[in-house]
Amino acid sequence: MFKKRILASLAVLAVTASGAMAAGGETHKLHDFGFSFEGPFGTYDQHQLQRGLQIYTEVCSACHGMKFVPLRTLGDAGGPALPEDQVRAYAAQWDIYDPELEDTRPGRPTDHFPHGSLSNAPDLSLMAKARAGFHGPYGTGLSQLFNGIGGAEYIANLLISYTGHEKEQAGSVFYENTAFPGGWIAMTPPLSDELVEFADGSPNDVESMAQDVAAFLMWAAEPKMMARKEAGLTAVLFLTVLTVLLYLTNKRLWAPVKKKVKGDAAE
Ligand code: HEC
Repeated sequence: MFKKRILASLAVLAVTASGAMAAGGETHKLHDFGFSFEGPFGTYDQHQLQRGLQIYTEVCSACHGMKFVPLRTLGDAGGPALPEDQVRAYAAQWDIYDPELEDTRPGRPTDHFPHGSLSNAPDLSLMAKARAGFHGPYGTGLSQLFNGIGGAEYIANLLISYTGHEKEQAGSVFYENTAFPGGWIAMTPPLSDELVEFADGSPNDVESMAQDVAAFLMWAAEPKMMARKEAGLTAVLFLTVLTVLLYLTNKRLWAPVKKKVKGDAAE
């Protein structure tokens, strides 16, 4: 009886929550991309990260910077995993200001990605963790629980959600974008079909490139995601084993007492 009532109220809760979730989702209309790094076993796709790096370098870095990301991490396993000589060659493409020389010099793996050159373009080092793709409903975080925070989703959506309309306001041009809060963004649509050529002939339509660069920025913001998941899984496994052992220990410890109580009751 009591159990039934609990089940019934749980069902009501679930229905209300899913209804509210649908309502919360409607206002944002973000497409939920299936990134390789989602879920407890998800990992970064090395080739996607390399394509994302290329898009970042050829397109985004014209305005944005990533000053918190060390160039040497491009060689890390689990990331783009470039061979050492390629990391060195990549770093050397950048002109880095060296305060000791009071001049610029070619970058080295020990340097970070340069600052952005456009003052109103935000640094992208942590952008994928600073934005949420999923919200609500009503501040409960239920959608985030099921869909994740979705920083990469937000970035990919931002890049594909230009409507083509623009307006001028106080001397600046704003572009209509349905993924951007407020609907008008100061960033010109950065991607167009076939803007970047990939050596392996990977698809270079706007939607594919948006996902590639979003995955790359997720890695930049959280390079150790895989290690974190691994540690989490190990902890869960360990706790499960510990639970079983403690249960058995508990049973064995109390067995003589229980036996005695039973015996007493029988007398
Ligand atoms: C021509 C310069 C320019 C280029 C190229 C450019 N951006 Fe931007 N970006 C901006 C500016 C300016 C803003 C700030 C817009 C605002 O706040 O209205 C911005 C903002 C952003 C934001 C933050 C949006 C938010 O929620 O605040 C992201 C994410 C972003 N850009 C990603 C990218 C990516 C990825 C690329 C490359 C594919 C790129 N940008 C290329 C100028 C640029």
